[in-house]
Amino acid sequence: MATEKTFYLETFGCQMNAHDSEKVIGTLRHQGYRQVETEEDASLILYNTCSIRDKAEQKVFNRLNDYKKLHKAGKRFGVLGCVAQQEGAKIFERAPYVSLVSGSASYRKLPEMLMRLEAGENRITGLDDRQTDETFETEYTARQNPYRGYITIIEGCDKFCSYCVVPYTRGKERSRTSSSVLDEARRIAGDGYTEIQLLGQNVNSYRDPEGKRSFAELLAAVGEVGGVRRVRFTTSHPRDFTRDIVDVIDAVPTLCDHVHLPVQSGSSRLLKLMARDYTSDWYLERVSWIKAARRPIALSTDIIVGFPGETADDFIQTMDLLAQVQYDCVFGFKYSARPNTPALTMIDSIPETEKAGRLQVLLDRQREIQRVNYAKHLGQVLEVMVEGQNPARGQVVGRTSQNKPVNFTCAQPIAPAPGNYVQVRITGTHPNSLVGEAV
Ligand code: 5AD
Ligand code: SF4
Repeated sequence: MATEKTFYLETFGCQMNAHDSEKVIGTLRHQGYRQVETEEDASLILYNTCSIRDKAEQKVFNRLNDYKKLHKAGKRFGVLGCVAQQEGAKIFERAPYVSLVSGSASYRKLPEMLMRLEAGENRITGLDDRQTDETFETEYTARQNPYRGYITIIEGCDKFCSYCVVPYTRGKERSRTSSSVLDEARRIAGDGYTEIQLLGQNVNSYRDPEGKRSFAELLAAVGEVGGVRRVRFTTSHPRDFTRDIVDVIDAVPTLCDHVHLPVQSGSSRLLKLMARDYTSDWYLERVSWIKAARRPIALSTDIIVGFPGETADDFIQTMDLLAQVQYDCVFGFKYSARPNTPALTMIDSIPETEKAGRLQVLLDRQREIQRVNYAKHLGQVLEVMVEGQNPARGQVVGRTSQNKPVNFTCAQPIAPAPGNYVQVRITGTHPNSLVGEAV
């Protein structure tokens, strides 16, 4: 009897990676593999990796090293995702027990790569890099999230910000047709998903290859699919952020009132060095459109501190921007040099302690801003979509349309299941979450 084909898959990194894994799992299942919970139980061990910051490569090699003894038991290893694309065939040298190395731009070839693996090949690569115009579409997506259906609408990136590895790891920017996106939205709405999140490295750089719909029109069309109650989209690039996106959020109630618009720095001098292709004034103009919307739209951002050459004055400008925008959420990162990127050749002279200090100042200030922002919700009744429970506290956890986490109590004996919508009166606030009771 042939031994059963089983796989273990661990995912690192962003939502794009999490959703890629859903598609990879579906593809593997379709090829006759069964998913298992531990490396020990699997015949094929896969890591879907991230290389956006830090010593990501090293973490992957450490993880491979921890389990390499399993190779002797006949198990095969594969490295997928951004570290795979970045390190390429070098992975075979450092970890000779790895048989498969594939970046996300080659996943459409996974069925073929799996067949070669099963035939005994042990140096299989999918490193399409920036050569491909094709997107990875599959009807076999194995959705792991019970309440949020992800749909990739655009893959890759052509922006080449000077610090960022993504254009090298995820390939050329390429959009799916809006018809295929809408078909998928209808399909998953039919499966019971009421929240859809549209994904793309620069989601609003979307360009319909059929020329039928702009990004804003696609948002509206997804928002109007029967059964859909919430539509989110991430991540938006300020360069392609047009006013019609705000108009469509105003016009279509199912579009969530939240925009994630990474600014990276408040200093136009630094933005230029980062090759972001906008100034802080240009960014603030987009913010003013968002703030002028008829319904309040929450704003979140990403900020990098300690980019090569960032002076104390540049950093003050970032702090000024923070004060001006009053974000609802900020993801702050210390700059980390990445292979292949132009910033790698800039002198990274800011000591690690200084970067850490600036990050702390930034996050402390943002905490105060959020304290004020979140307190504005006291006494309001907000619609919350349930995501899970915190049994230790006897609370249900969920999110508002603005993407703010809410922990709330519920008088019913059985707590509402993930995916349900509950009206919650806000009775308390923390810097990163709201507290309430179901009404
Ligand atoms: N160093 C630090 N942060 C980075 N990001 C991307 N590349 C780097 C880097 N080399 C951050 C940016 C981006 C977020 C996803 O990660 O803020 O918006
Ligand atoms: Fe990490 Fe970027 Fe790759 Fe996502 S796309 S996994 S954030 S390197």
